[in-house]
Amino acid sequence: MAGPEDGNAAMSLKSETLRDIAMKGGGYYSQATTGARDVIDGAVELLLGAVARMDLRRARPFTMTDMGCADGGTSITAVGRTLRRVRALAPERPIQVIYTDLPRNDFSQVFQTVHGLTEIPTYANDIDNLYVFASATSFHRPIVPPATLDLGFSATASHYISETPCRIANHVHMVGAEGATRAAYAEQGRRDWQSMLEIRARELVPGGRLVLLNFGIDEQGRHLGSTGGVKMFDTFARLWRELTEADTIGEEEFLNTNFPQHYRTVAEFTAPFEDPANPVYRAGLRIEHVETRIVPCPYASAFAEHGDAARFAREYIPTLRSWSETCFAAGLDPSRPLEERAAILDHFYDSYEALVRAAPEGHGMDYVHCYLVAAKSAAAA
Ligand SMILES: C[S@@+](CC[C@H](N)C(=O)[O-])C[C@H]1O[C@@H](n2cnc3c(N)ncnc32)[C@H](O)[C@@H]1O
Repeated sequence: MAGPEDGNAAMSLKSETLRDIAMKGGGYYSQATTGARDVIDGAVELLLGAVARMDLRRARPFTMTDMGCADGGTSITAVGRTLRRVRALAPERPIQVIYTDLPRNDFSQVFQTVHGLTEIPTYANDIDNLYVFASATSFHRPIVPPATLDLGFSATASHYISETPCRIANHVHMVGAEGATRAAYAEQGRRDWQSMLEIRARELVPGGRLVLLNFGIDEQGRHLGSTGGVKMFDTFARLWRELTEADTIGEEEFLNTNFPQHYRTVAEFTAPFEDPANPVYRAGLRIEHVETRIVPCPYASAFAEHGDAARFAREYIPTLRSWSETCFAAGLDPSRPLEERAAILDHFYDSYEALVRAAPEGHGMDYVHCYLVAAKSAAAA
């Protein structure tokens, strides 16, 4: 099995990583990802609770970030409800919301969503003194000036690690990795979480809050797509492996396909907040709330009602494709003509769809999330 010592592979993967995680643009992401919206809608009470505990009597603008916003559609209800509450509690205060994602994100779509140019209802027209911005800055870097952030929000984004530490020999995701390979992903995940929190700690005003919803591994070892019986990442790996057996893709292409992700356990999420020697703890960040939740796959739930396997397969695969396609595309040899790469990917997802159509039981992508709210102590500098 390739390990973290697989240096050359790591070097070449490093520069690729940021390219491999964009969601499909053109609004495809929000349309295909209703489960992600359910995850965020389920956090509205946590967001409103965080706002209720803040002292909003300030003259400077109230600042909220949505870090890893994709096209802004999945969070629009939750952001709108949060900002309406801020407006109600602080009628005179300017509000600014900053949508952030990686530079290759489709920010045009974010503005179309927020300014009501899509069919998704928006909040932007009914909150006055509201200013909408975007920042194409990784959450591994400072996004706003020190001590100016009131509410940092992020959903389903910080499982993406800033570097792929090594290739995974017989799988495509760290949940299928073992030994030194698994440890290398855990270490990269730890470093990224630590630095992301340290940067947020500097950005937050005293009394500010973070509401962070992340894919994780729950107390029973469950993670995204693993709850129904057929494990989604194992299926991805098996079908991708079958393409090497059919000589559709090469062994190097299989090995170069690695999701740049780490799913953290609750202990991994909470560690920086609990160790008095940790800079995050020392900056005054404390957990107010942490829990794991399973948000059911809307397509599997619908299938349980309608029982039509073909419909389930047809509706379910696009949501997988919306976030996974860039990773599989990045594994393919770039010297292949674009149409050839597109055909391989179509074939790959078609085979997944055929599999679900033929034997739908156990498939589904229940979300397994860690919901975490943290506060920066009002006394912190
Ligand atoms: C699965 S999508 C989630 C989108 C949305 N927050 C939601 O919950 O539906 C993950 C998003 O995180 C973004 N992302 C990944 N790494 C990032 C980073 N280092 N900084 C900012 N955004 C990042 C991706 O580009 C993508 O848009």
